[in-house]
Amino acid sequence: MSNIIIEQLYKSYKNGNEELSIISDLNLSIESNTKVILTGNSGSGKSTLLNLISGMDKLTSGSIFVDNKAVHKLDENSMSEFRSKSIGLIFQFHYLLKDFTALENVMLPGYMSGMSKSKAITKATELIREVGLIDRLEHFPSQLSGGERQRIAVVRSLINDPGIILADEPTGNLDQKNSKKIEELLFELVNNHGKTLLLVTHDMALTGRGDIHLKLENGKLSNL
Ligand SMILES: Nc1ncnc2c1ncn2[C@@H]1O[C@H](COP(=O)(O)OP(=O)(O)OP(=O)(O)O)[C@@H](O)[C@H]1O
Ligand SMILES: [Mg+2]
Repeated sequence: MSNIIIEQLYKSYKNGNEELSIISDLNLSIESNTKVILTGNSGSGKSTLLNLISGMDKLTSGSIFVDNKAVHKLDENSMSEFRSKSIGLIFQFHYLLKDFTALENVMLPGYMSGMSKSKAITKATELIREVGLIDRLEHFPSQLSGGERQRIAVVRSLINDPGIILADEPTGNLDQKNSKKIEELLFELVNNHGKTLLLVTHDMALTGRGDIHLKLENGKLSNL
């Protein structure tokens, strides 16, 4: 079970004496196994919101609960455990480690959070097979196409079996054909593995794929 509850969330950035308000009195409840598509203008705070949920950024006030855990109150140790076990992150850029093979890139987060090496290899291999790249296990990122790299980045987010996937414009950097492929794959994986998905996109064609379509505007969310 993986749900997200946000209450009276405020986020502002201080620039000198100026206070720049990004999110103000935002409330949100996402139930387990729900697919949420989040849109909004550039600069509206979508990435900020995802970063707050994953604990990568600190809220100004309010509360964020993931799996009934108060993310905003976690200390540094619990935070990194929370992030590696409960949340899978996918970004516009793949952030694969260039000196590691596809297999190593996918198994690494598992291994780092305490999985045995053999289990990490088995699991990573299975995931890579699921995205059709079983014959690319030993390829380094430079030996993969852009779309293939992103497919590896997608399954890397699943290695620790997180209940929640936060995806920030995962297809923003790909051509149309590869975007379609990654989208199909992401939704298929999320459905097959029973995940909660919060997906940020500028691609309006995607909004129909979710259970809920939210728009972030003037610091608040509206249901479309
Ligand atoms: N560390 C920071 N310090 C100050 N302002 C910031 C910081 N990070 C983001 N901002 C500002 O917060 C606003 C929201 O940024 P954010 O990256 O969340 O937008 P976004 O909705 O993801 O936009 P895009 O669609 O272009 O990715 C922007 O106006 C940005 O300039
Ligand atoms: Mg963004």
